[in-house]
Amino acid sequence: MALLDAADTLLDQARIARENAHAPYSRFPVGAALLTDDGRVFTGCNVENASYGLTICAERVAVFKAVSEGVRNFRAIAVIGPEDDLPCSPCGACRQVLHEFNPTLRVIAPSGPGSSRVWTLSELLPHAFGAERLV
Ligand code: THU
Repeated sequence: MALLDAADTLLDQARIARENAHAPYSRFPVGAALLTDDGRVFTGCNVENASYGLTICAERVAVFKAVSEGVRNFRAIAVIGPEDDLPCSPCGACRQVLHEFNPTLRVIAPSGPGSSRVWTLSELLPHAFGAERLV
């Protein structure tokens, strides 16, 4: 399936995942849906904590769910914030975590009523620090 065909479906899955967000402090629920190379989808939502710094973003929940299930070949991630029509681009920490597994990952976000846009992760995190620097 072409990525743009998959984009709407992934955004729908992110929207459903957002329903489980635990965001009583920010009131900023986020959902994410991560598409693997073999067509599986792992979803995530943000999970906040009364000790604010322990909060984890929706994107990292999705990545850690997948990796903990033995899956780490990722093709795209859709992210949706509180509003269905506005983009919610991943925070810097999530960009770094996504980069670990695929620097060319596609990041999908809504861009208006019924429309979406796609970034590559390297657009969002140019000159990233990565594993190649450590060897
Ligand atoms: N958040 C995400 O889950 N993903 C993003 O891309 C941006 C921010 C969460 C973290 C926190 O729970 C709330 O949104 C406000 O920052």
